[in-house]
Amino acid sequence: MINKVGVIGAGQMGNGIAHVMAVAGYDVFLKDVGEIQLERALSVIDNNLKRQVGRGKLEDADRVAALARIKPVLTDDYLAEVDLVIEAATENEEIKKAILAPLGPQLKPEAIIATNTSSISVTRLAAVTDRPSQFMGMHFMNPVPVMKLVELIRGIATSEETFNAIRDLSVNLGKTPTPAEDFPAFIVNRILLPMINEAIYTLYEGVGSVQAIDTAMRLGANHPMGPLQLADFIGLDVCLSIMQVLYEGLADTKYRPCPLLVKYVEAGWLGRKSNRGFYDYSTDTPTPTR
Ligand SMILES: NC(=O)c1ccc[n+]([C@@H]2O[C@H](COP(=O)([O-])OP(=O)(O)OC[C@H]3O[C@@H](n4cnc5c(N)ncnc54)[C@H](O)[C@@H]3O)[C@@H](O)[C@H]2O)c1
Repeated sequence: MINKVGVIGAGQMGNGIAHVMAVAGYDVFLKDVGEIQLERALSVIDNNLKRQVGRGKLEDADRVAALARIKPVLTDDYLAEVDLVIEAATENEEIKKAILAPLGPQLKPEAIIATNTSSISVTRLAAVTDRPSQFMGMHFMNPVPVMKLVELIRGIATSEETFNAIRDLSVNLGKTPTPAEDFPAFIVNRILLPMINEAIYTLYEGVGSVQAIDTAMRLGANHPMGPLQLADFIGLDVCLSIMQVLYEGLADTKYRPCPLLVKYVEAGWLGRKSNRGFYDYSTDTPTPTR
């Protein structure tokens, strides 16, 4: 039975995971490296919960109860109490391995460990823990409180019992779980990122302008957002790193990152978070840059 959960990493994804867990009634310990990160995460969660109340999706009493279920922590004492740890720290293999390796001896023997990694091999991460059969990928989408999907990734040693426990938990969170094998970028990013990369090639080769490409895909393929607008939202550095994982992991030139994407990242034009990507966000209405 999963009742208490530890979430390691209180960034964009970790705070969203803590949010949905707490709303679903789980007790959550939210861990990060400093007070600043934890304070920021709690304030984001508070704002997002209030927005859900404002939209009639949550009662105010449930917002208060959810917030009370989240305990920010800086030390590891909580580990002895939890039934599940979800690692949602920075996407860097060395950082993740350093977090995961020492967990085992501090956890209950039956506790499960999950990782929210977008691209690192689940099997490789499992191998540094003392419990590869109780380890798997639980890949939430951003923003977590809004997006319905959770990709569930088995490592080579993941047991059926572990997989079923995380599948049932995902359903309890109101999400739809989809199984994906442990291949680079799993399903969503394996399909989505090459499309975005192709949209950037289309721009690079002058087939269309930023506006033409986004309008074409919104109105011609019924996508809610154009691919270049979506790239800016995801972050162009994140897009590039996923393309590199596909290119190197699958050793196929069809995943070659577009040189224009590389140039934008080198220029520090990372999309919304840096105020400039394929659009310029310094004005009220984003203006296309090409
Ligand atoms: N951003 C997305 O769209 C998205 C979507 C799905 C999955 N992911 C995955 O989720 C994970 C987190 O991504 P994010 O976008 O939330 O990143 P982020 O940079 O917003 O947050 C990462 C957090 O981890 C913390 N951290 C780093 N080292 C730590 C340590 N040793 N102990 C505790 N906390 C530590 C950082 O201080 C930071 O607050 C990554 O694996 C990423 O690939 C991201």
